[in-house]
Amino acid sequence: MSVPRYLLLNGPNLNLLGQREPAVYGSTTLSELEDFCRSWAEELGADLEVFQSNHEGDLIDRLHDSRTGFDGVVFNPGALTHTSYALHDAIVAIQLPVVEVHISNVMEREPWRRVSVIHPACIDTIYGRGPDGYRWGLRAVHHWNEWMPEAVSYGPTDDQVIHLRRPAEPGPHPGVILVHGGFWRHMWTRDTMDGIAIDLARRGYVSANVEYRRVGGGGGWPETVDDVETAVRTVIEREDLSDVAVIGHSAGAQLAFLAASRLDPPPLAVSLGGVLDLEGAVSTGIGNQAAAAFLAGADPTDASPLHHPVPRAVAIHGTDDDRVPVDHARTYASERQARLVELAGTGHFEFLERSDPAWQAVVKVLERELPA
Ligand code: DQA
Repeated sequence: MSVPRYLLLNGPNLNLLGQREPAVYGSTTLSELEDFCRSWAEELGADLEVFQSNHEGDLIDRLHDSRTGFDGVVFNPGALTHTSYALHDAIVAIQLPVVEVHISNVMEREPWRRVSVIHPACIDTIYGRGPDGYRWGLRAVHHWNEWMPEAVSYGPTDDQVIHLRRPAEPGPHPGVILVHGGFWRHMWTRDTMDGIAIDLARRGYVSANVEYRRVGGGGGWPETVDDVETAVRTVIEREDLSDVAVIGHSAGAQLAFLAASRLDPPPLAVSLGGVLDLEGAVSTGIGNQAAAAFLAGADPTDASPLHHPVPRAVAIHGTDDDRVPVDHARTYASERQARLVELAGTGHFEFLERSDPAWQAVVKVLERELPA
């Protein structure tokens, strides 16, 4: 396979990164950011070319030129995001996967920044994750390139969508439904699970990477859980599956386990560094009071996996998880007599890396409980 080649495009005022409103955009300069992006591309085995301009026409020309020799674009159009239909049309015209990236949390700033006219033309929009958002952007474009998913809507909003990947061999196959984390907040999306979704499909599973409405985008308790339940039912109804697992990472485990508790026959529910004890999550305030924001005054016991049994459950957790303490898995396993897999020295995010031993441990659990 030839080495994929991506273009990193930055628009107006991003040349001033590092000096410009550091409280909003941080202290990383554009050239430092471009160097980071080069090394992130290298990790993916890809080449990267970079370009920044303050001029709309130059950005359009550069997008047009990328039609030859490039496999995708990571694009922060700055303020042109909010107004430029010409950039929207250029992205549609080039027929390459383009991921929109913003450093700041555009959804929690002035109302006009919440509008992106380029969003409908892009395969993904990543915002509010600081310079690291470009790393996620590169991964998103790379995963799209590796294995483009089929998108299935299960509701009227953009967020109610499932990305499916099926093994080439005829089924039935077991299905694995992935529910991403991010403390139920809008800025975290299913892109975090794309790498493992591809790995599962390669291993003979139908993989379904689920998006859902989140806090700040029409979600919260109970709508977010209802969305995940609907998504899981949609996958089960439309695919020919021999068995089903629902795997949630971080807060996605709360959603996966609640959805699993409502299904008959019950799927296997697997937690990866999961929030399984909502009363604990509220009282300890993990994720900057994330559980309280999600519940908005509702009783945590109503939403806690601890109080909604699932007959087939495995809690996998890193002992060094500094986002969601391992106590969540330990408490869940002892109170619900579930299987506990503790991974010494593992933190919160290693599960999302295909080559990491933490993900290999998950694969091993699946091979035993849900052989492909
Ligand atoms: C930005 C957000 C835009 O609203 C703003 O005009 C920028 C930068 C970001 O990266 O957060 O220039 O795209």
